[in-house]
Amino acid sequence: MGMANELEKENAAIAAMEYVEDGMTIGLGTGSTAKYFVELLADEVADGLVVRCIETSEQTRRLAESLGVPLIPFEQVERIHLTVDGADEVDEQGQLIKGGGAALLREKIIANASDHMVVIADPSKQVERLGVFPLPVEVTPFGYTITAKIVYDVLVASGIDKPRVSLRRTQGQELLVTDGGNYILDCHCERIPDAEALAARLSNIPGVVEHGLFIGLARTVIIGNENGATVFEF
Ligand code: A5P
Repeated sequence: MGMANELEKENAAIAAMEYVEDGMTIGLGTGSTAKYFVELLADEVADGLVVRCIETSEQTRRLAESLGVPLIPFEQVERIHLTVDGADEVDEQGQLIKGGGAALLREKIIANASDHMVVIADPSKQVERLGVFPLPVEVTPFGYTITAKIVYDVLVASGIDKPRVSLRRTQGQELLVTDGGNYILDCHCERIPDAEALAARLSNIPGVVEHGLFIGLARTVIIGNENGATVFEF
C-alpha cells in the first residue's frame, strides 16, 4: 500500500464530508479509510461544526477521543442520520464484505440503525463478485468448534467449492477476541455465488453472532482516486 493508495482513501473520505450536516448524529466506521473521515470531521468540529458521534469500535473511540470528536453513549442515541465506514470488498450492487478489522458486529448494528450508510474505499476494494477477501463470521466462544463445522457445511451447501474456515488469531498468535468478547472465523471462499442467500443462512446458525456480509445496507459507495472520487448510489 503506497502513497497513491492513501491518497485514494483520503479523497474518498473528503467526498464523504459532503454528506455531513450540522446537528447530525454520525456513526464512525473502523479502519484506515474511516480514520481519514474521523480526522476530517475533527477539523470541522474544531471550526465549529456541531455533531454527535457513535463509534463502531474501541479503536475508533480512542481515535475520536484523541481528536476531540464528541461521542455519545449508544443508549442515548435516538437516531443516527449518517454512518461513514470502510469496507473490505464492495461489489457492483453495493454489497459488502466487512470485518477485516474485527469490528463487524458494532459496524452492522450501527449501519443498520442509520438513515444513510456511506461506504468509503479505494479502488482495490472493488470486485465483480464478493469472496476473495475471507468472509469474517463472529461466533460465541461457547461451542465455537461445532459452530465452525456448521458454518463450513453451510458454505458448501451455498455452492462454495472447498472453503477453508480458520479461527482468527492476533499477530502474537493469541486467539482474537472481538470488542463483544467473541471469536472470528475467517471463511476463505474465493467466490460467493449468492451473497444474499449465504447471509440469510449464516444468520440462522445458533452461535453465529454476526457475519461480515452487508446486504442492502450501503446506500452510497464512494471510491476515491488520485484526483477525486466516484460516487455510486444504490
Ligand atoms: C472493520 O471491521 C472493517 O469492516 C473495515 O471497515 C475494513 O477492514 C476496512 O478497513 P480499511 O479501510 O483499513 O481497508
